[in-house]
Amino acid sequence: MNDAAQTAHGTTGFTPRVFSGIQPSGGLTLGNYLGALKRFADAQDAGTETVYCMVDMHAITVWQDPAALKRQTRELAAGFIASGIDPERSILFNQSQVAEHAQLAWIFNCVARMGWMRRMTQWKDKAGKNSEEASLGLFAYPALMAADILLYHATHVPVGEDQKQHVELTRDIAAKFNHDYGVDFFPITEPVIEGAATRVMSLRDGSKKMSKSDPSDMSRINMTDDADTIANKIRKARTDPEALPSEAEGLTDRPEARNLVNIYAALSDQSVAEVLADVGGKQFSEFKPMLAELAVDKMAPISGEMARLMENPSEIDAILARGAERAREIASPILKRTYEIVGMVGA
Ligand code: AMP
Ligand code: TRP
Repeated sequence: MNDAAQTAHGTTGFTPRVFSGIQPSGGLTLGNYLGALKRFADAQDAGTETVYCMVDMHAITVWQDPAALKRQTRELAAGFIASGIDPERSILFNQSQVAEHAQLAWIFNCVARMGWMRRMTQWKDKAGKNSEEASLGLFAYPALMAADILLYHATHVPVGEDQKQHVELTRDIAAKFNHDYGVDFFPITEPVIEGAATRVMSLRDGSKKMSKSDPSDMSRINMTDDADTIANKIRKARTDPEALPSEAEGLTDRPEARNLVNIYAALSDQSVAEVLADVGGKQFSEFKPMLAELAVDKMAPISGEMARLMENPSEIDAILARGAERAREIASPILKRTYEIVGMVGA
C-alpha cells in the first residue's frame, strides 16, 4: 500500500483508543517501565480509552515452560498494576482468554503476504540462521499482533522503537483488508514512539539495549529490585570521566552519559534539555547519587507493590478475568463484522 492510500483512510472517524501489549516472557526492567508501562499509565491518566494485554500467545512462539509462563503472566499483571494502570479505568487482560485474537489473526494470516513477514527484522533476529527450525507461530507473529490492535479498532499504539516495523505492518494489513474487501473498516493505526526513554540502554554498555536477557544483572534495573540494589547498580553504572554538558548536543558521542541523563529525564517527567540546564557541569560523583535517589524514589514503591500483589495470585486472576470480559465486549462485534465482510455464513 502506498502512503497516500493509507492516509486517505487514517484514523478519522474512529474513537481514539490506545492498545498495547507486552509478552509475559519473564523479567521486567526499567526499560520496560520507562519505554512501555509508565507511558501506558500516562495515556490512561490523560483520559484516553486504554486497552492493555499480556500477550501470552505471542510468548509461546518460542518455548515457554508452562509453570514459568503462568508465574510470568501474573508478575507482568502485577507490574502493570504497580506502575499505575488501574484495572477499572483501563482494560487489562491476557490474550489467550479472548479467543477473538486468534480468530482475527487467522483472517490476517490470509491477508498478509509471506514477503512482508520475511522482511521483519525481529523475525530475522529471532529465527537467526536456523529459520527452518523456528516455529510457524514466530513467522506469523506480526499478523497476531495486527489482530491484537485491530480487534479494538485501536487508533494509537505506544511501543518502543523495536516494534515500529510491526505497527507499520499492521497498517499495511488494515489497508490491504480495506482495499481487498472494498470497505473502510479497520483504522490505519498510528505508532506512538516518544519520550526520552524509548530506548533505555544497558548500565554496563551504552551501545546495548537494557534487557532481561543480558547475562549481567548489573546491566539492568529489574522492576523487582529493592532500594539498595537499585542504588548500588546506579553507583556502579559505567560512565566516562567528563563532566555533564549543559546542552543535549554535548551527549552525542557519550552513550553512557546520555543514557543516564535520559533515565533521569524520563523518571522526573522532564526533557533532556531541562535536566541538563540543571545538572550541566556536574561530575558523575555528584549526578549519580541524584539519579540513585530519584530511581529509588520512583521504583522501590513499584517493586514493593508487585511483591504484595504476587502474594495474592487469586486477586490478579480475578482482575484479568474481569478484564477479558470487558475486552470481549469490544472485540466480539468487531470480529463478527469482519466475518460478515469476509463472507462467512452464520456470522
Ligand atoms: P520486551 O520485554 O522486549 O518484550 O518489551 C516489552 C515492551 O517494553 C516493548 O514495548 C518494548 O519496546 C519496551 N522495552 C523493552 N526494553 C526496553 C528498553 N531497554 N528501552 C525502552 N523500551 C523497552
Ligand atoms: N510484539 C510486542 C513486543 O514484543 C508485543 C505485542 C504483541 C504488542 N501485540 C501487541 C505491542 C500489540 C503493541 C500492540 O513487545
